[in-house]
Amino acid sequence: MPIGVLNGRDLLLAPSILAADFAQLGAQVREAEAAGADWFQADVMDGHFVPNISFGALVVEALKPQTRCLLDCHLMISHPEQYIDDFVKAGAQQITVHVEAVTHLHRVVQQIKAHGVRAGVALNPATPLSSIEEIVQDLDLVLLMTVNPGFGGQQFIEHSLDKIRRMRQILDDRQLSNVILQVDGGISAGNVRAVAEAGATCFVAGSSVFRHKQGIVKAIEEFRWALK
Ligand code: DX5
Repeated sequence: MPIGVLNGRDLLLAPSILAADFAQLGAQVREAEAAGADWFQADVMDGHFVPNISFGALVVEALKPQTRCLLDCHLMISHPEQYIDDFVKAGAQQITVHVEAVTHLHRVVQQIKAHGVRAGVALNPATPLSSIEEIVQDLDLVLLMTVNPGFGGQQFIEHSLDKIRRMRQILDDRQLSNVILQVDGGISAGNVRAVAEAGATCFVAGSSVFRHKQGIVKAIEEFRWALK
């Protein structure tokens, strides 16, 4: 059930497991699912495309039986086309690659979709929306990074709101209402309403969910209130 609805669009909360306690990942994911998380995002990092190493398909495979939520794999890696099959086998239902990491983006999007998996493309903060204007109609999701990728717990880049508004306008003008507009980085109950009003429909939140002082359930409740 969506965390909220705005302008007739379902709003989805996708906690990022990057911020979870990996010593009790299954329990934390189950707790977040019970509290109303819609998806879970797996932040895959290779230490090359981004200056940090996180985890690979093994963690997604381990997580799969722990939740009924959609597993959304955000591949912050170089040559993601070499790993699509691994993440599909691991149970990913949504795979997002970075436009900056791929030479033949149309081919990679088709490769993901050929597996019956939802395909997304992510843009770093400095990457213009024009970089995906030829492919947006083929996508299930556009991810606008609102921090520079690589680490959780960073500050939301304020001018992202304008970029979100412009992306929303492109989707509306082209009647691509089925394409999810996802944001990731520094998202909290304190700014999620403004981000939703700018046009985002899926919110990746790591620290503000898994590192909330009063716990996961309270964190997700605050998101629901913020989006009422
Ligand atoms: C950055 C990661 C983070 C993470 C969310 O590469 O993608 O944005 O998912 O982290 P928080 O919500 O802690 O900013």
